[in-house]
Amino acid sequence: PQYPLYTYPLPIPAIAQPLKTMVSKATGKPIDYYEIDIKPLFLQLYPPPFPKTRLVGYNGTVPGPTFRVRQGRETIVRFINHGDRANSVHLHGSYSRAPFDGWADDVTGVGEYKDYYYPNGQNARTLWYHDHAVDHTAENAYFGQAGFYILDDAQQDALNLPSGQYDIPIALAGKRYNKDASLWDPEKNNEVTSVYGDVIHVNGMPFPYHKVEPRKYRLRFCNTGVSRSYDLYFHEEGSNNRIKFTMIASDAGLLLKPVESDHFFISIAERWEVIIDFSNFKGKNVLLRNSRGVGADDDFAATDRVMQFRVGQTVTSTANNLPNGLPSKLRDVPFPPARAPIDHAFEFARGQSQWKVNGVTWSDVNQRVLARPKRGAVQKWSLKNGGGGWTHPIHIHLVDLQMTKRTGGRGAIEPYEAVALKDVMWLGTGETVEVTARYAPWDGLYMFHCHNLIHEDHEMLVAMNITAIKD
Ligand code: C2O
Ligand code: CU
Repeated sequence: PQYPLYTYPLPIPAIAQPLKTMVSKATGKPIDYYEIDIKPLFLQLYPPPFPKTRLVGYNGTVPGPTFRVRQGRETIVRFINHGDRANSVHLHGSYSRAPFDGWADDVTGVGEYKDYYYPNGQNARTLWYHDHAVDHTAENAYFGQAGFYILDDAQQDALNLPSGQYDIPIALAGKRYNKDASLWDPEKNNEVTSVYGDVIHVNGMPFPYHKVEPRKYRLRFCNTGVSRSYDLYFHEEGSNNRIKFTMIASDAGLLLKPVESDHFFISIAERWEVIIDFSNFKGKNVLLRNSRGVGADDDFAATDRVMQFRVGQTVTSTANNLPNGLPSKLRDVPFPPARAPIDHAFEFARGQSQWKVNGVTWSDVNQRVLARPKRGAVQKWSLKNGGGGWTHPIHIHLVDLQMTKRTGGRGAIEPYEAVALKDVMWLGTGETVEVTARYAPWDGLYMFHCHNLIHEDHEMLVAMNITAIKD
């Protein structure tokens, strides 16, 4: 049945609390220690008389608890596996050392745990942690293994952006249900292409509402779904006029400058952050809508909907309401130096019923290291969508990348992409994107892959080996 729209409130994930603070023997600095238990949970997602839906999440919630960490404060997180199957945890957006980066084959079995160390030395940004286990990432993330991890720093504090209850994480996920309110299982159904899902979840709740005040808010979007990409926009309920907002941050934190927009694309694993002002909508509702890939099928009737903001009459705090707007420059973004030659060209395409990168799959163990940049080297890579009508969100681990060119398809870089550093580049139909990055700060084996999780699990996953420079 059609899921009831805007009936249940938006859940806000709890903030993860460290169990203790340890002192590093190496540096003498404090390290916060957390534990996350991966275990089954049952949520009443469809209203009774439907039964509860079984999920497997981090600490019994979906999304998992939100980490909120200051730049420079190191953390260790013990992930204990009380789930159904092996897992590997990736902190997406972190320059983690290779042993703690969620390498797909580095799985932790049921009943086991692994301690992950995170340096947290990067600038303020919205990261997310999610499963990365070989062949089962889609299944594990879809059933609930995804959560926010937010880094804060002094430079961003100085901007006085909306904070606290005015800073809202928005985790999107498209899912599909069976008639008995259980999740439609991509693995049991041998799904090998994509799971778009006709039920759009925000922070684990389908089509929720959220009560807001008539003032400015910071919304942190992250697409935690399996395959569905969105073209998002806002409008007042009952009117077709789009509401303008300001884009301020991407995968790698603040943009160079704020970008006014009335829509943005967000593919799997991308993060985009916006400032939206609800002050003109007192007592009204504002809808968050999707105009991409809506689908003609009846089952997809509501995929142009995402959630509803119910704007109240009163503002309880004008703190961080940006009375003077945003500065014309948000930060000095450390863009890599321009580079003319293309060091690597990668084509992401389907072949022999598999998803491949330059014809190589993850199972090609002796071929799957496709790049060997020297640590610290600046390289330009070209990422090509190999066709067939598919799109591919390409994620390169460890580094922040600058998109310098898009050809085919949309034919240009979006204005908000042009002032961003990214770790996921969306290759729309027919598109090729060029990206430049400094391959640093660590050496080691790191993955790069399509973040459509079905493509990733069906082998569109390869590696690079960043090699230490020996003088
Ligand atoms: Cu978000 Cu390799 O993953
Ligand atoms: Cu793909």
